Amino acid sequence: MKITVKPGKLETIRTDAAVIMIVEGEKPGPVAARVDKALGGMVQRLIKRGECTAKPGSVCLLYPEGKIAAERLIVVGLGKRADLTLDRLRLAAGKAAAAGRSAGAKNIVVAPEGSSFDPAEAGQALAEGSTLGLYRFLKYKSKDKNNGKKEIASITVLMEKASAAGAFQKGVRTGEIIAAQAALVRDMVNSPSADMTPTDIAGIAKGLARKHRLKVQVLERDRMRKLGMGALLGVASGSVQPPKFIIAEYRGGGKRPFVALVGKAITFDSGGISIKPSDNMDRMKDDMSGGAAVLGAIANAAALKLPLNIVALVPATENMPSGSAYKPGDVLRTMSGKTIEIINTDAEGRLILADALAYACRYKPAVIVDIATLTGACRIALGQEATGMVGTSEKYKQKMRAAGEKTGERVWELPLWDGYQDLIKSDIADMKNAGGRDGSVITAACLLSKFVEKYPWVHLDIACTAWTDKDRPYTPKGATGIGCRLLTQFLRDYAAGAK
Ligand code: BES
Ligand code: MN
Ligand code: ZN
Repeated sequence: MKITVKPGKLETIRTDAAVIMIVEGEKPGPVAARVDKALGGMVQRLIKRGECTAKPGSVCLLYPEGKIAAERLIVVGLGKRADLTLDRLRLAAGKAAAAGRSAGAKNIVVAPEGSSFDPAEAGQALAEGSTLGLYRFLKYKSKDKNNGKKEIASITVLMEKASAAGAFQKGVRTGEIIAAQAALVRDMVNSPSADMTPTDIAGIAKGLARKHRLKVQVLERDRMRKLGMGALLGVASGSVQPPKFIIAEYRGGGKRPFVALVGKAITFDSGGISIKPSDNMDRMKDDMSGGAAVLGAIANAAALKLPLNIVALVPATENMPSGSAYKPGDVLRTMSGKTIEIINTDAEGRLILADALAYACRYKPAVIVDIATLTGACRIALGQEATGMVGTSEKYKQKMRAAGEKTGERVWELPLWDGYQDLIKSDIADMKNAGGRDGSVITAACLLSKFVEKYPWVHLDIACTAWTDKDRPYTPKGATGIGCRLLTQFLRDYAAGAK
């Protein structure tokens, strides 16, 4: 799909569908007012009758029958002015594009009226909302792939004020880059584990390296052994899929210290010997969401040419039961030298992250951010509305919170108080990998905290947000692609602050 920005009058453009945006409790803006006049006041009449509303994301489809040049008119609501956020604009753009597609439109023209945002930010939100709102995962549908509906081929954004068009266009370009990467992350997470093995993820990382200015290195089992990555190797021992330790570097920041991103990539989490119940086990193909997110974010950083040095580390393996699998009671020696007693082989994410975090410390990073579908308890605590956050750096937690608000991928902090550390004390090793049900989002983070040395660190638990059981604004049921846009925004803000 192509998104272009140009000057012009909406009512005179021939297109399959024209989109106007309205704000609750406000008179239509100049474009909407002209369109309505051409339609003999039909939009206003429908608003009065309550058939067309300005509620956030509500859409109303009209057939102008020659009164304007467009074949269809989509009126989309932005909600109340006081609540108008960038995320509302994403929602409106997503709903309008999806409504256009269901109506059979191939080309859409949008007048982005009503928002008072900076044009670059509005352009970005519009591109993200429409691209992600149109996202579908059809790779495994054999027939009637598109449900009989064609994909949208082009969206044209009409700007009345030529002065804002340049900035808007730039924002659209940024949004297109970021949304394309987020869609790739969704594809990776939606893919069955048989087609998204550690080897497949390594292949995708190499593909990104060819496309962008990234250096990608993939460590195999023998290198992991030499490095002493006993935790990652322990988790991998039950699987016939070879584990991969993926290192992607982006150097755009001269001599600046690295930002380290670490993402959990369990391509299938059966639980291992502590096997999971079969209900919903199919979902455990999403346990590589963190790894996909950091690859997406570093690719964005490269595509946006951020003036930063970034390393993305992705420990990738399956967690399977077998005769060679690691077992409860085993003690694994991590790359840092610290030992972990295994209480439950289903608490595997923290193990592979322990080795990856230790590896991250080699870069002497300015900050380490890890992202992982780490605990079922995260959903108990926060539902599917927020990502759990724990960390040691007030400054970077605050920056992550801000990035969450801006992207709509919101985070909520849980405490990392000393008392929780006692829950993972082991009788025979330096720590144990599971501390029972109490505060288990936090006790998982406690284990991670032992591997980040003194580096500022933020941990994101996306077990609750990587997948959605219902359609959401611009996110259809399934993989959400969470973290990719959040981390990209975090990096962009970081780059802007470092200038
Ligand atoms: N990958 C799971 C966490 C998860 C659960 C993600 C449900 C998405 C939905 C993780 O590896 C896990 O199994 N965690 C256990 C830890 C426990 C054994 C200490 C959990 O949360 O139950
Ligand atoms: Mn598990
Ligand atoms: Zn897991």
